[in-house]
Amino acid sequence: MKFFIDTGNLAQIKEANDLGILDGVTTNPTLMAKEGIKGEEAIAQHYKAICELVDGDISAEVLSVDFDSMVAEGKKLAAIHPNIVVKVPMIKDGVKAIKWFTDNGIRTNCTLIFSAGQAILAAKAGATYVSPFIGRIDDSGWDGMELIGQIRHIFDVQNFKTEILAASIRNALHIIKAAELGADVCTCPLSSILGLLKHPLTDIGLAQFVEDAKKM
Ligand code: G3P
Repeated sequence: MKFFIDTGNLAQIKEANDLGILDGVTTNPTLMAKEGIKGEEAIAQHYKAICELVDGDISAEVLSVDFDSMVAEGKKLAAIHPNIVVKVPMIKDGVKAIKWFTDNGIRTNCTLIFSAGQAILAAKAGATYVSPFIGRIDDSGWDGMELIGQIRHIFDVQNFKTEILAASIRNALHIIKAAELGADVCTCPLSSILGLLKHPLTDIGLAQFVEDAKKM
């Protein structure tokens, strides 16, 4: 399973990348706005900086919601760096735009996936990735992981090549479950990645080893 970090924060991206386990980055308008990135030029510069930090796929989301504008925006985003993957929302014009990008050699990540039907449509349009939002499904009283399992089954049975990118990850258990269910990618906040490190018995065991090492 590939590990992406879900943030626009350069320091956090660097911290995760320094661990040596990072395969890419996902962003969205909320995460970019949080970093105070505003205006076309600043947005492009920020994506460029992320691409220079991490050698992997970098999702950059279109801000418009109609076909012509999404295509125009996506072309510009894709021109920033070969690792840019254009992130497109799961709406009617988004599906059309994904098909257009597929036909024109631009890779896409279809975002805001909340059902298997949406994932099938995105895969049919040739999306490189589909992003089911696990945490937000859990928040609404449904089971986000069930959706990951269902999409995995459908993509395997139908031989869809689109990769399943588990998004809206909130904790370390989400990452473990997504791995168990065969997600191709997990995009996580830094806190969830670091959460994988933690076990109280590791801390207790290490304290003992450090103590005993003094006797050697
Ligand atoms: O980038 C999309 C997704 O990961 C958002 O997560 O925590 O805002 O539901 P969240």
